[in-house]
Amino acid sequence: MASSALRHALLLPLVACFIAVAAGQEAPRAHPLSNLPPSGEISTGFFFPDFPTRQFIAGQAVKTVLGIRNDASEPYNISAIMGSLNNAADFRAYYWNFTQQVYFQVVAPGKELSVEYTFLPPKDLPPNDYQVALTVFYEAAEGFKSTTFFNQTVTVLEKGQLIDWKLIFLYVIFIALVAAGAFYVWNIVKESQLYKNLVGKKQRKVEVSRADNDDEWVKGTPYDSFRRQKAKAAGKGSKKAQ
Ligand SMILES: *[C@@H]1O[C@H](CO)[C@@H](O)[C@H](O)[C@H]1NC(C)=O
Ligand SMILES: *[C@@H]1O[C@H](CO)[C@@H](O)[C@H](O)[C@H]1NC(C)=O
Ligand SMILES: *[C@@H]1O[C@H](CO)[C@@H](O)[C@H](O)[C@H]1NC(C)=O
Repeated sequence: MASSALRHALLLPLVACFIAVAAGQEAPRAHPLSNLPPSGEISTGFFFPDFPTRQFIAGQAVKTVLGIRNDASEPYNISAIMGSLNNAADFRAYYWNFTQQVYFQVVAPGKELSVEYTFLPPKDLPPNDYQVALTVFYEAAEGFKSTTFFNQTVTVLEKGQLIDWKLIFLYVIFIALVAAGAFYVWNIVKESQLYKNLVGKKQRKVEVSRADNDDEWVKGTPYDSFRRQKAKAAGKGSKKAQ
């Protein structure tokens, strides 16, 4: 299998050159993507298993699965896939050409084949919308053909910009722990003598103002008259309520 990898490595520039020659008659060195060969008779379907929402992340490889069905009456030799990253508003402004991958797999008439293509949005790509075009090149008896199977706007995000559910889960656990801790402390405080004293005093104050007279020491003080008024008000209030 190492030899097949080597063969691919050797053929890679060769194929690019072939395609370039086939594509640009006047300028043999023209990039294959700038002058695409005509389309053959294939049907394609694709998906991005790791990025089903088409929100890619700068610096993270995007795997593409491409299904090809040969609708022609002759075999096609699937040569390579190439792609580019372009301005979403102006396709002519390209930012990046994705590395080509070669296949050299023959798909017979009426048959299907699926291949994988991986491209890498550059790590320092500013987060934005971009137009990504992916093209498959294949060879028939009369020469090269191409089909652009994906040509759509995608969103490229910065790493970490995507919702990180793992992190959110950790936050939820953290908040739950803090809440549990707070509840535990509250239970201890509730039972503590200090708290009982504080709250007990408040409750007693109301009782006292109803009973009105067992605290000799407050008689005649401003607090005493305040207490009486409050008791009266409370009495009225409860009468009204009845
Ligand atoms: C990238 O592809 C475009 C065509 O889409 C071509 O004009 C350009 O020369 C290529 N750039 C490189 C560096 O290969
Ligand atoms: C497919 O194309 C490549 C490159 O042109 C060639 O080396 C290979 O033999 C072809 N495969 C078949 C089965 O014709
Ligand atoms: C991709 O689509 C744009 C329009 O959105 C078009 O101008 C461009 O030629 C297409 N590219 C390819 C390779 O089909």
